[in-house]
Amino acid sequence: MTRDGTASRAAATATVAGVEPGEPLLTLEHVSAGYGPFRAIFDVSFTLNAGEAIALLGSNGAGKTTIARLCSGLIAPTSGRVLLGGDDIGGRPANRIARLGVTQAPEGRSVFASLTVAENLALGFRATVGAKGVPGALDAAYALFPRLGDRRSQLAGSLSGGEQRMLSLARVLVHPPKVLIVDELSLGLAPIIVEEVYRNLATVKAKGTALLIVEQHVEHALALADQVVVLTRGEVSYDGPVLSLEQLTEHLLPTAVPEPLASELESG
Ligand SMILES: Nc1ncnc2c1ncn2[C@@H]1O[C@H](COP(=O)(O)OP(=O)(O)OP(=O)(O)O)[C@@H](O)[C@H]1O
Ligand SMILES: [Mg+2]
Repeated sequence: MTRDGTASRAAATATVAGVEPGEPLLTLEHVSAGYGPFRAIFDVSFTLNAGEAIALLGSNGAGKTTIARLCSGLIAPTSGRVLLGGDDIGGRPANRIARLGVTQAPEGRSVFASLTVAENLALGFRATVGAKGVPGALDAAYALFPRLGDRRSQLAGSLSGGEQRMLSLARVLVHPPKVLIVDELSLGLAPIIVEEVYRNLATVKAKGTALLIVEQHVEHALALADQVVVLTRGEVSYDGPVLSLEQLTEHLLPTAVPEPLASELESG
């Protein structure tokens, strides 16, 4: 299999069977969830279409990470449904959801410290493409993140934090899933690396991967998004087309203004 062949096969399998780009792929239907007796999200509904991207926004504690975890199977809904191409995947174990093509980008530094960069990548690729596919996949990873190519023989444990994040991301991005969930991907990364990471997200989106993006640097998420969902205290307060930062601030404002001040503003 040529490298081109591998890439086009990945693109061709990038949508759930029977789901065309622009059609509903991942749907939350009246989903509530929480931690023990605590309800973090209430009656949340939205749809991510195949090949598109949603920027999921909201203030701290609004429930964004909870939704990311729900979609990747790390927590189960207490009510409502999580549909992937029509199948209810809510509450299924994360490894089974990953096999269906929904992956959450690894947070932090999920690498094997005592293995080299190349060994870390090869380990992941052997599982996804088999031994024969490893050389091509390595080339693709180094094309995505040239910095990793420069350091291919270096022990992963001695990489910088940002480089370790690139390494764990490269394993996902070379063979992008149907749905990729990213939660605060840029946290702690230098701006130049954030640019590189988002350039690569744009590439996987162009190849057909649908993205659910949670990002403090809102402008990065908005640049890729086809749709915006705003959460306010666990509930959807906006679901629609991409807004300007100015319009968004208005939607996010009620959560940022303390209650007494908000009612004063209203009455004044
Ligand atoms: N493991 C947990 N146990 C109990 N409560 C939790 C747990 N994780 C999150 N919560 C609570 O659930 C609510 C939603 O949290 P979540 O992490 O989804 O918010 P978030 O929108 O991702 O916030 P941030 O922008 O700060 O990351 C918060 O009130 C939080 O305190
Ligand atoms: Mg969070």
